[in-house]
Amino acid sequence: MTDAEMARAEQQALWNGVAGRAWVDEQMLLDRLFAPFAALLADAAREVRGGRVLDVGCGTGATTLAIAEALGPGGECVGADISRPMIESAHVRAGRAGVPARFIHADVESHDFAPASFDLVTSRFGVMFFGDPVRAFANLRGAVREGGGLVLLAWRGRSENGFMTAAESAAAPLLAPQPPRDPGAPGQFAFADPDRVRAILAAAGWAGVEIDPIDVDCTMSEADLDDYAVRLGTLARILPTLDDGLQARVVTAVRLGFDPYRRDGLVRFTAACWVIRVRPARPTG
Ligand SMILES: C[S@@+](CC[C@H](N)C(=O)[O-])C[C@H]1O[C@@H](n2cnc3c(N)ncnc32)[C@H](O)[C@@H]1O
Repeated sequence: MTDAEMARAEQQALWNGVAGRAWVDEQMLLDRLFAPFAALLADAAREVRGGRVLDVGCGTGATTLAIAEALGPGGECVGADISRPMIESAHVRAGRAGVPARFIHADVESHDFAPASFDLVTSRFGVMFFGDPVRAFANLRGAVREGGGLVLLAWRGRSENGFMTAAESAAAPLLAPQPPRDPGAPGQFAFADPDRVRAILAAAGWAGVEIDPIDVDCTMSEADLDDYAVRLGTLARILPTLDDGLQARVVTAVRLGFDPYRRDGLVRFTAACWVIRVRPARPTG
């Protein structure tokens, strides 16, 4: 197996296993937390009103539904995801929402999309997990018409996103040392380096790429934080491998690690992200 194939197999297992189930269970919490990002993508989709949008790594579908609504009559948003449990949950929501959205269970790196069939590709935090990102973005380029656009949301670096790494940092002194990370390996922070993102997109055939920082204020309740801290992220994978005593000590340390973010009965943090964009041109003809 090549490194890319191994990375792809790992992501398949993760999003169809522990991570996928946690995202389905915590769907409401995550959608409340990341609602400002869904609004940003829906605004971008208004630029191609009545057109077709592909929402990559759509998860349980909140952004796909928001975009479909923004597209208005004649429009359609297709959500694509490798996670079967997340796509199944998205199907159920779409049935209730009554908007022009459709969901497919697909690895966008290799899925056989109809050529030039979309006006815009969007993603809320769904593009940092590809085993071979150049191959994935080349495949997406082929799915988009000439002059089609891209609006992707990705995390900036770990050092700027203390909330996102608080659980891991708090747990680290209690756990065996973790191997050093490859900063470009598939994962939440794989797109932290904008030069790397530019190089990937250029190699995949995307021109006119703009990358801008955004800082978004996010809020959750203290009750939500308890679920969030132990069910999502790296810790969710590590906790089940520990004995009960160590699990309890890690959970206590992690709760304390989030103290700097508690204020007035709420949990507040700033999400430091990139908006990666190729502006869509008007369709010709
Ligand atoms: C961090 S979650 C974000 C989910 C969703 N966009 C949201 O904001 O709620 C990342 C998503 O990317 C999906 N994903 C990862 N690799 C993928 C691939 N190669 N093709 C399609 N989806 C993929 C995962 O299954 C997961 O649903």
